[in-house]
Amino acid sequence: MEIIVCPTPEEVGRRAADSVLAALPDDRDPVLGLATGSSPLGLYRELGRAVSEGRADFSSAYGFALDEYVGLPPGHPQGYHQVLLREVSETVGLPPDRLNVPDGSGRTLAELTAGARAYEERIRTVGGVDVQILGIGANGHLGFNEPGSALTSRTRVKRLAARTRTDNARFFETIEDVPTHCVTQGLGTILDARRLVLVATGSAKAHAIAAAAEGPLTASVPASILQWHADTVLVLDEDAAQLLT
Ligand code: F6R
Repeated sequence: MEIIVCPTPEEVGRRAADSVLAALPDDRDPVLGLATGSSPLGLYRELGRAVSEGRADFSSAYGFALDEYVGLPPGHPQGYHQVLLREVSETVGLPPDRLNVPDGSGRTLAELTAGARAYEERIRTVGGVDVQILGIGANGHLGFNEPGSALTSRTRVKRLAARTRTDNARFFETIEDVPTHCVTQGLGTILDARRLVLVATGSAKAHAIAAAAEGPLTASVPASILQWHADTVLVLDEDAAQLLT
């Protein structure tokens, strides 16, 4: 595991973008795994800068979101499809028809599960994810794989932890508006990506980062699977890194 500690959040975005760009193939269409949330925004801005400076081109790339809420109305501004259209497609020029997001619109568990299987198949069809961009939850979640998630899990329906709903309430009017369930790539799905680049800033992430990077490999800290991957890069600011030994 490579751990890069940066003096400023801006530098975190730059170094993380460098790690992403270095892992993209130039002989076939690149495949990006995309996290939502605050952590990767600086990274997405830096990828946009690389495009405007002619150092990168995502016009033939595919994007695959890590997760999506279940039950939001189509086009809801906080649905991750809309978020990634705004924050990634528009910023880096990834064509909207190449942006894939798990289908959270199923009305039954069977429909949602069929959509989750189709999503896994779609990732396989394009040759797998080259670089998976990740944030980390304060409880150690990865994607929406909350503590207790199976280490080999695939894309599936999950219930959101109370802590995650509280953390994400800032994007909704009230906490009651935060969905209770999601469809998320599994930890096994994430581990299949050829490189993992995780971005974390701020002291609220310090415990999760220390447990993920230096604690035991355990379903209680889903992000501890990062230790199991041969090409993981953590890009942190000093606050997020403060509990590392
Ligand atoms: C969302 C996701 C989550 C976030 C995590 C951190 O797609 O994958 O695991 O990365 O909740 O969120 P922020 O970056 O907002 O602190």
